[in-house]
Parts: sequence; C-alpha cells; structure tokens
Amino acid sequence: MALRLGDEAPNFTAETTDGTIDFYDYLGDGWGVLFSHPKDFTPVCTTELGRVAALKPEFDKRNTKVVGLSVDPLESHHEWKDDIEETQGNALNYPLIADPDHKIADLYDMIHPNANDTLTVRSVFVIGPDKKVKLIITYPASTGRNIDEILRVIDSLQLTANYQVATPVNWTDGDDVIIVPAVSDEDAKAKFPKGWDAQKPYLRVTPQPNK
Ligand code: BEZ
Repeated sequence: MALRLGDEAPNFTAETTDGTIDFYDYLGDGWGVLFSHPKDFTPVCTTELGRVAALKPEFDKRNTKVVGLSVDPLESHHEWKDDIEETQGNALNYPLIADPDHKIADLYDMIHPNANDTLTVRSVFVIGPDKKVKLIITYPASTGRNIDEILRVIDSLQLTANYQVATPVNWTDGDDVIIVPAVSDEDAKAKFPKGWDAQKPYLRVTPQPNK
C-alpha cells in the first residue's frame, strides 16, 4: 500500500555512490529527504541532482540528510556523476542509491505504472527524526522539482515541530506565522510573548517565534 503522511518510513539497506547505507543509520537523529529520479543520463535529473549538491549546506543547516535514488546500476551512477559535475558545476556530495531491482522504489511506491511501468516518478519524501513521513511530493518525469520549495517546507515542518504554529500561504522563513487553533488565547499569552493579531478568533497571526 502507498505510504501516507504520518506513516513510518520503511528502513532499507542500499548500494549508493557513497557505499552501502542503512537508511535509518544514515539519517541518525535528524531529518531526511529521499528523492527519486526516473533514470540516469537524463537532462532534468542531471539539473536536479546538481542543484541539490549546490544547496547541500542549506540542508546541513537544517540537520537534514539528503539521499537520491535512481533505478540504474551503481556503475552507471558513477559515470553519470562526472556529467553532473561538468554540466552543473557541482559534484554530487550526498549518496545516490542504485535500485536496479526496484526494491526501494517499490517500498516507497515510486513507480506509477500508468505513467511509466519501469521508471520512477519524481517522488520526494521528507522524514522526521521520529522516522515518520512528514511530506510527500510527486512530480512527473518531465517537470524538475523546485529545491527551494523543499527547503521551505522543511523550515515550516521544523517550526511546527518546535512551536505550536502553522505557516500561511506562500510563507517563507522570517514571515509571520499562525497560532494553531488547539492553543487557547490564555495559553498563547505565555507561548507567544510578542503577541498576535486576531484577524478572526481562529486566525491569529504572530511573528515567527524563533526570529
Ligand atoms: C529527465 O530527467 O530529463 C527525464 C527523465 C525521464 C523522462 C523525461 C525526462
């Protein structure tokens, strides 16, 4: 059955460009991003992998480990790495899983047979320190993902994990946030000392608590 938000992210061992990994060991106590690529030596994937390499320091800042997956074999990944560095100006600096038997792709339901019965779609799973799935994004093979958006959602998820707030439409780090309805006005006084603007009783806007 397909994974859903809140489900436990299945653990696995895999061959990667950085050697064999146990997924949970690799993630440790932090956050994780697992993202799939339809195939090696394809143009959109090449740009995505290069962009994630460029933004690796941003993932590090968020205590988030990144791992890519493509269904081609490891030797192919190692050859492709050179092209990624040459064309994108950034060398792969995180593991890329080789999944030729689709073991992990099947575990995470990354192959959607009505789109393509052998290649993965562009899946993104964000996994929390509790190993639960916090975000699932699915793009078609022809559309490259927006890596800034993945970082933005991680910012939102981490804020929600640490404070009782939600983030409004088009929020980015530093913008005002929303006090979740489960917090009473009485409790909010202690939790949000900067105060809030109650546009409606259920719509209480407050400055981002960790800024
Ligand atoms: C690509 O990464 O460019 C791609 C992969 C599979 C199908 C279409 C595009």
